[in-house]
Amino acid sequence: MAPLSFTLATTSSSLSLLFSQTPTQQRQLKTHAKQTHRFQVSCNVSSDDHEKLPTTNPQPQKLILPQTSLDWQNVDRRNLLLGLGGVYSTVSLNGVPSAFADAVKSPSIVSSFGPSCKEAGSGFNADKGLFRSTACCPPPSKYVKEEDYVFPQPGETRIRQPLHSLSPEYIEKFRYGIQQMRDLPDDDPRSFKNQAKVHCAYCNGSYTQNGQQLQIHNSWLFFPFHRYYLYFFERILGHFVDDKTFGLPYWNWDNPDGMVIPNFVLEEKQSDTNPNPLYDLFREKKHIKPGVMIDLDFTGTDRIVGKYYSQKDVNDTTMNRQMMRNAFDAKSFFGGRYVAGSAPIANADNLVGAIEAGCHTAVHRWVGDSEKPNHEDMGNFYSAGYDPLFYLHHSNVDRMWTLWKDMEVVGHKEPEGEDWLNASYVFFDENQKPVRVYNRDCVNLDNLKYKYLHSSIDSWKDRKPKPRCANSSTNTSAKNMNGEDFKSNVVINKTPVRFRLNRPNGGEKRSPEDKKNVKEILCVTGINFDGMKPAKFDVFVNDCGDSTKITACESEYAGTFAAIPHKKDESMVCKSGMRFGITELLEEINAEDHKSVQVTIEPRPTKDEYPDINIEKIEIKLIDVSK
Ligand code: C2O
Repeated sequence: MAPLSFTLATTSSSLSLLFSQTPTQQRQLKTHAKQTHRFQVSCNVSSDDHEKLPTTNPQPQKLILPQTSLDWQNVDRRNLLLGLGGVYSTVSLNGVPSAFADAVKSPSIVSSFGPSCKEAGSGFNADKGLFRSTACCPPPSKYVKEEDYVFPQPGETRIRQPLHSLSPEYIEKFRYGIQQMRDLPDDDPRSFKNQAKVHCAYCNGSYTQNGQQLQIHNSWLFFPFHRYYLYFFERILGHFVDDKTFGLPYWNWDNPDGMVIPNFVLEEKQSDTNPNPLYDLFREKKHIKPGVMIDLDFTGTDRIVGKYYSQKDVNDTTMNRQMMRNAFDAKSFFGGRYVAGSAPIANADNLVGAIEAGCHTAVHRWVGDSEKPNHEDMGNFYSAGYDPLFYLHHSNVDRMWTLWKDMEVVGHKEPEGEDWLNASYVFFDENQKPVRVYNRDCVNLDNLKYKYLHSSIDSWKDRKPKPRCANSSTNTSAKNMNGEDFKSNVVINKTPVRFRLNRPNGGEKRSPEDKKNVKEILCVTGINFDGMKPAKFDVFVNDCGDSTKITACESEYAGTFAAIPHKKDESMVCKSGMRFGITELLEEINAEDHKSVQVTIEPRPTKDEYPDINIEKIEIKLIDVSK
């Protein structure tokens, strides 16, 4: 495939050609559609979920956090390892993994195999009331142990199509499959409810790895874990619609035609008698209604889009920023290293990927109901899987991985170390069999036998932001850098914080070739935030004093950091980090010859709740992404 040229058949006739059913299949679908569905809207809050709620919240795993920030890259690792009684027992105490640590191995989920799973206990506030169950462990299995997954060979390929261009037949089939999953009993791991719980178990503290709570967000496990999660969800769905080419659609929020959610996902009922299995009760009322366009830069409060730019402009420039300039290498796209013994709150690199912290989180928060204490369903990991939109959303997130890779841009490649390749997870397949899968096997989609019928990415692939400040090289507030130099531990709460940063090359001219291979990046490390609250801030370079008015469409906006709550213990402190590519930004604002720049960090409230963030370190670096 040529880089960046994708085509999409948008007429439903050409799509339905691909997916036309035999008369028998059509008859079967009709018959099923007539059945009285056991599913009712009220079973979204099913009584058994409430019965299973704990009377007291289980004590989460106790973590011993480092007393001071440990810039562990500067620590001689041998000192950590020698004479301290074993690698993991020592280093996992403060969550600093060894340079030689193994890949993360998620525990067996087969309950007869031992008490490897416990009630979820982190990332939500149980005191304020819960709308979903925290009993997230899978049901008992008839198997004694999981086996390494054997990829079906040979097989047909499942096609993932954009949600907004599905044919009526495809929609009917999709609804039918989801309804079948909703109708499965609670002891079937393939049921819609048990699939939702998979996410909760892996993200809200049901599992441990090397003595630490397992967390598959906020690190380089994010993309591969979700790829597999959807893979099995899709196969289960395909099993129930009895179609080997049936793919999970993707919510194409990066395409102008996909920015509005189609009505067939929004309606409560599909007919007088039948509820709509794609409907979810717990969604944001002001967003989840016909005709409202998604905000891929959602800040937690609705943005007033200015007179110069539309919501579509914001979305296009957001996609461009998060897929190109802020995703310049494996770490900035996938997130930081997370290995056996890593703490769930802070991966070894303290880094989260641009897509995960950006549009991915924005969509979760935009869909989740802000009136609910934990922003159920989509706004919190423990409940997100209960909304069918979750799978459609993540199908597009997964598509971003394929697009990013296919761009053939320097630096766009997967992590290569054994500690990433060998990381593994356990899922139930479409025959209820527990299977273990490894990161290394999900890199090549030929293995997984699904592919994307890509829509066009023309609206964002070259969509560069424009500078806001008339000429930032002569603008006095930018030129004089009236901010102070950055000192460690800056507190971000209500008001923007500004400071000056020196550039590594002192403003010397660089050749285009050099700029292609060596990226100038703004590193924000040691972002400490309250893991019980959503946290978000935006970063600007030379904003000439009015950052509050700058949108994603403008060059001075370097990018955003946002996290969904995922932690709870005595300290509740989560730690992360972000890197922003500023090579193109500096070109656009005409500041390439500046010795230093002014950086502004602006907190973004959720309703009127301001984040509590402490940033340990910010610096500008040059990194060679060509290696
Ligand atoms: Cu596992 Cu979108 O989250």
